[in-house]
Amino acid sequence: MKVRKAVILAAGLGTRMLPVTKVVPKELLPVVDTPAIQLVAEEAARSGIEEIIFVISPGKTSLIEHFAPAPELERALEEREKLELLDLVQSVGKLARITAVEQHQPLGLGHAVLQAKSAVGGEPFAVMLPDDIFDCQPPLLRQLLDVAEGQTAPAVALLEVPRSEVSKYGIVEGSKTGEHIYRISGMVEKPSPERAPSQLAIMGRYVLPPEIFGLLEHAEPGVGGEIQLTDALLALAEHRALYGYQFTGARYDLGDRVGFVLAQVAYALKRPDLAASLRPRLRELLLS
Ligand code: G1P
Repeated sequence: MKVRKAVILAAGLGTRMLPVTKVVPKELLPVVDTPAIQLVAEEAARSGIEEIIFVISPGKTSLIEHFAPAPELERALEEREKLELLDLVQSVGKLARITAVEQHQPLGLGHAVLQAKSAVGGEPFAVMLPDDIFDCQPPLLRQLLDVAEGQTAPAVALLEVPRSEVSKYGIVEGSKTGEHIYRISGMVEKPSPERAPSQLAIMGRYVLPPEIFGLLEHAEPGVGGEIQLTDALLALAEHRALYGYQFTGARYDLGDRVGFVLAQVAYALKRPDLAASLRPRLRELLLS
């Protein structure tokens, strides 16, 4: 099973990060100097993905423009001999083949995935939610693909979250079948702490078979009146094995203000060009 395509869902309104998301799509918000969506596309490319299908809402075309050539900018950088910057700009377009489909109505995550049906065709594919970025080695999607390819089965990324936070996620029920690996038997979308079957939350990385599209087409609206991907996954788990992979590594929720700021600091501290001057100033701030 070779997974060549990734669907990146970028059709959300970004209400958690207003007011900036009034005009700027949340996926273009930067982590230091790189849009979140580029970090996710880089994760896909470094995981071996050859084609990225963006699901966008109408009007979010600036997301796609970020991956398109910028002839005037490139010419100007060339004339000024800013070759490192030229390379930086051009490398974005070389990550993968980029296509886009539109989701015309915000009917839920499952509905967003369904919009990519004909672009994906009859092959297994990855789904990535760009709200979360993961600093993992190898990249999280690569680790998940290794599990899915090893088991020849669909798989989702899992992270243990505090009980007080389970209502923000899809929560799974499952039995451990290997180190970090669970066979999933149940799933509840955004349960109350009392109803949660575990504290293992689905993170925004999935490896799915094309059968999921048929299940999504027949899915009834679930939590919040939306077509939920979690409900279709549960239906999938009823007739074939579905695995959960509990990864280790850092995760930053960019849709949360604290997560967003933490990501800036963590990624800046990893950059030798920034860390040396940032460290003492952060220390000063903390002590003031
Ligand atoms: C979605 C999924 C949920 C998952 C979460 C991960 O929720 O429905 O199962 O746990 O992403 O971020 P959303 O964040 O779109 O509300």
